[in-house]
Amino acid sequence: MKKLTYLFLLFQMFLLGSLNAQPYKPSPGIDAKVNALLAKMTLDEKIGQLTLYTTDWGSTGPTIREGYKNDIRSGACGNLFNSHTVGFVRELQRVAVEETRLKIPLLFGFDVIHGYKTIFPIPLGEAACWDLEAIELSAHIAAAEAASAGLNWTFAPMVDITRDPRWGRVMEGAGEDTWLGCRIAEARVHGFQGKKLGNTDAVLACVKHYAAYGAATAGRDYNTVDMSERFFREYYLPPYKAAVQAGAATVMTSFNEYDGVPATGNKYLLTNILRNEWGFKGFVVTDYTSMNEMVNHGVIADEKEAGELSLNAGVDMDMQGSIYQRFLKQSLKQGKVLQKQIDEAARRVLRLKFELGLFDDPYKFCNEERQKATLLSADHRKAARDVSRKSIVLLKNDKNALPLQRNQKIALIGPLADNKSELIGNWNGAGNADDCITVAGGLQGWNVTQVKGCDIEGTDKSGFEAALAAARNADVVVAVVGEKAMMSGEAASRTEITLPGVQEELILELCKTGKPVVVVLMNGRPLAIPQIAQNATAILETWWLGTEAGNAIADVLSGTYNPAGRLPMSFPRSVGQVPVFYNERNTGRPYNPDSKWTSRYIDEVNAPLYPFGFGLSYTTFSYSQPTATVTYAANDASKRFAKSPVTVQVTVTNSGKVAGEEVAQLYVRDLVGSVTRPVRELKGFQKVMLQPGESKTLTFTLKSEDLGFYRRNMTFGTEPGEYDLMVGGSSQDVKTVRVRLEK
Ligand code: BGC
Repeated sequence: MKKLTYLFLLFQMFLLGSLNAQPYKPSPGIDAKVNALLAKMTLDEKIGQLTLYTTDWGSTGPTIREGYKNDIRSGACGNLFNSHTVGFVRELQRVAVEETRLKIPLLFGFDVIHGYKTIFPIPLGEAACWDLEAIELSAHIAAAEAASAGLNWTFAPMVDITRDPRWGRVMEGAGEDTWLGCRIAEARVHGFQGKKLGNTDAVLACVKHYAAYGAATAGRDYNTVDMSERFFREYYLPPYKAAVQAGAATVMTSFNEYDGVPATGNKYLLTNILRNEWGFKGFVVTDYTSMNEMVNHGVIADEKEAGELSLNAGVDMDMQGSIYQRFLKQSLKQGKVLQKQIDEAARRVLRLKFELGLFDDPYKFCNEERQKATLLSADHRKAARDVSRKSIVLLKNDKNALPLQRNQKIALIGPLADNKSELIGNWNGAGNADDCITVAGGLQGWNVTQVKGCDIEGTDKSGFEAALAAARNADVVVAVVGEKAMMSGEAASRTEITLPGVQEELILELCKTGKPVVVVLMNGRPLAIPQIAQNATAILETWWLGTEAGNAIADVLSGTYNPAGRLPMSFPRSVGQVPVFYNERNTGRPYNPDSKWTSRYIDEVNAPLYPFGFGLSYTTFSYSQPTATVTYAANDASKRFAKSPVTVQVTVTNSGKVAGEEVAQLYVRDLVGSVTRPVRELKGFQKVMLQPGESKTLTFTLKSEDLGFYRRNMTFGTEPGEYDLMVGGSSQDVKTVRVRLEK
């Protein structure tokens, strides 16, 4: 029965993927209701709808302070975040709908980033699964759990492209690639918002952080962003657009500036692009006090002006800054903002409250029984285990050290081998560390001797000797090492992206014992680990996998599951290479190891340690030479490209001894453009399961937009000429077919 429910859930998710392929549009009849309500509202009540406050939910649980109850009662605060669980939400919603004049229900937001109670892999890790249905399912389960605990709005997905692993927030996104980032953004929006807003297993999605937050200079959080409009539109902007076009109901501004203007006061971003170019009809919320911070940015003199700049730019809701609440009335009196702007912002917020059905039943997300049945259900744990194992990337496997054999004596070493508290990673919703399965837990029943060896941080090596003794006594060492969960995420940038503390030293000592050493990494960012890459026998990248981490890792260690994850972000050799990413421009002096006067370092090669798209399997795959067909629009004498002008075919064969999945990736390169083009860009992938010896022929279809780009005059489109189409198992391991597109 359970299996059936799970399959049903998967099937449902499969169907979900095809829905919502357009920006959110208010349902019929909603605007009439909103306008009728607006007509009854005072200015203060309207401004209240534009105000979002956090509750003082702490690690020991929620408290209901009279202060913000009073703000709700007076209509000064129309939305809350960090308030969840049915009892807590119900009481706050009761104040809103029973003790206020117009009984307008509250929105309840929360950072449900990779799970609410059942915690899934951190988003960067999940991006490694290259399985859009699995990603959608994970977001949908997160939404269903959140919506069972009183919530109706998540501050996700985070779709910021980043190339800088120093930046702590790389863990929250989908990595370095724009095309993959778009597909994942869509999957997550579909998952969160479900079949229909208003369903009790769906929440409003919030695309963040708009825009280009991931390009913070030097990877230092909140830092300045500066780039050409061409690179902005080509590399950074598309995932926000994809999320909006997938129907995301809300958008969050970012902390950074873009082209000299903080995003929260940036009319070009919020009105010209978001609303006018993309047709976004939902509402825009600031990031946490990002409106107030524009004073520090130095583009306005005080908070009152910050409110004016924001509203004029297109911000609807003020998160935690209380600027709209304190100053907007005065700004209106002085003619600095217009009544119709306030009305329009309130209209956008109220629409979504109607869309969610909160006016019909303000407590629809507050059902104790549903909460109990939904949170951490067996089906959810099962799905989490599945998504988690799909997210694991096998980086090295010399001498077929993996999978482990049942009769092997295992020395399980390392500070993370049996450490529940780190597994749920950063931004872990309402997840409990106690619900997590560690690697030690996952390997129960195996012949394991466990020794910690050292801490994650610090210089204490007193545990080394016991770890080395255990290693000498074992057939194989499994060393579970990595970062602390809080070393990535917001305000957690690092200048060293190696393993912290003495963990690397411990591993190198373990390697000297001559025993095979399998390193299991847990981390929130690409790490620079060249020594480990050279000396360890096998390496598994497991990120922070969440509640089912240990079971998923044990599935891979044991070979029950053959790993198929692929890196969504390049792993540098050293921090000095950062940013290192696959879709770079060729330059006038491309890398040549034999020539000093080329674009290179004198002390390091250009290539990353592990490139984008890379990942091994317990089997091997081979590719045929790809072939391509170019078609033009029917009856078009001028040879204009058809909508889908190019198909590429390639045959992939499982050339190894066990069944396994390959992620066949398609990259394109325009050889001569009116502006420089990347040396390769991902434009498609297919994940295919093959039995030993089995071959499958895959067909990829490229649409015109896949071959298009912002041309010299910044219009988007294709140009005639030669293109290389590359197919392979990673961004650096491809076979090429060249095609020519005529005018
Ligand atoms: C973060 C956002 C988050 C918000 C609310 C901010 O500090 O940048 O990503 O959604 O807080 O928690």
